[in-house]
Amino acid sequence: MIIKKAELLITAVKKEQYPDTVVPEIAFAGKSNVGKSSMINALLNRRSLARTSSQPGKTQTLNFYNINDSFNFVDLPGYGYAKVSKSEKEKWGKMIDTFLHNRKQLKEVILLVDIRHEPSNNDIQMYDWIKSCGYTGYVIASKADKLSKTQQIKSVNIIKKTLNITDKNIIIPFSSASKSGVEQIWDLFVNILGL
Ligand code: GTP
Ligand code: MG
Repeated sequence: MIIKKAELLITAVKKEQYPDTVVPEIAFAGKSNVGKSSMINALLNRRSLARTSSQPGKTQTLNFYNINDSFNFVDLPGYGYAKVSKSEKEKWGKMIDTFLHNRKQLKEVILLVDIRHEPSNNDIQMYDWIKSCGYTGYVIASKADKLSKTQQIKSVNIIKKTLNITDKNIIIPFSSASKSGVEQIWDLFVNILGL
């Protein structure tokens, strides 16, 4: 994918704040700190377009990125952040729920999980939620640079089993640090976006 343009369109919380673009979109979900924002930067070859942090809870809004004026990426705030109050969790749930149910141009919601860990109950719930909204259930296993190739294969099998991933629900090991998996991800995205 040749990235001619990549810019933050808008940060939104409410439906009224979503951009009024009609281009297809892909959104990224996953627990805080799993590497969603880092992946957006790595895919777009931009160092700090999406804000990242070693502290969980960096992304708090729906962040819409315009790419080449032909599609949008949507960076979602992560879950499972321990310091968050119950009312904040409810707000988070409503924000995501409204987005998943009201965005016609949203083609897929991709779940990111850390390749080193067995998916948590939150991950399982998020995955089931994504699928119950009608999305395919593609998974990206992040931070692959932290494991050897042999360990990656083992981990991918554990993730598949825990999330009950079937063959059509491709899972791709990926690293923002080494950029491994970038080509496979773009192949998938080009397909999803119909480019
Ligand atoms: P929230 O915005 O809190 O939901 O987090 P996020 O999922 O956007 O995570 P973010 O991209 O901010 O990354 C969190 C931390 O993980 C940062 O310190 C990143 O440098 C690190 N990180 C992200 N991707 C990778 C990767 O592929 N490999 C390694 N080694 N570290 C990574
Ligand atoms: Mg983030």
